[in-house]
Amino acid sequence: MFATAESSNGVSDKLKVVVIHQSRTGNTKRAAELIGGVAEAAGTAVAVRPTTNIDMAELAEADLVFVGTWVDGLILFGHKPGDAMKVRNIPKLWNKRVVAFMTHAFNPGSAAEKFTKLLQGHGADVVAARSLNRRRLETEAADFAAEVLASTDD
Ligand SMILES: Cc1cc2nc3c(=O)[nH]c(=O)nc-3n(C[C@H](O)[C@H](O)[C@H](O)COP(=O)(O)O)c2cc1C
Repeated sequence: MFATAESSNGVSDKLKVVVIHQSRTGNTKRAAELIGGVAEAAGTAVAVRPTTNIDMAELAEADLVFVGTWVDGLILFGHKPGDAMKVRNIPKLWNKRVVAFMTHAFNPGSAAEKFTKLLQGHGADVVAARSLNRRRLETEAADFAAEVLASTDD
């Protein structure tokens, strides 16, 4: 559950953010942690979780959900979300504002668009999508998270 300070009416008014990641070699997990750090520094209540350890109550309460995976392809073509089945195994994201993020090595092609469609098929209202270069995660993940949070009103 979110560790949030409650206001006088017993309800936390912090934006609740869940960052979900599917990662094989750690880059997408690292991106998720960086995004979580930016969100926390911006004053939100954040939980960062792998696809295999989702907290249903936490997800149900979330105002904004980041979902990340890696780019799978043949470098020049065939780009798609890596481990798509594992992402499809997370609970449905009906009525959730969702941000799709990915990590890649050289060329993400149109993987972020494909990932957006996958998440929309999973019920998500995708508000932003981007693939991040694995060698520049510190800057690219932080910039992306900051942009998304700045465009989130409540
Ligand atoms: C089977 C396979 C295919 C990949 N295809 C691409 C690709 O087409 N383009 C690219 O830029 N990176 C590609 N990559 C690199 C990964 O997307 C990149 O290393 C990513 O950051 C891995 O994320 P992870 O550490 O969270 O597993 C591929 C990696 C693997 C294992």
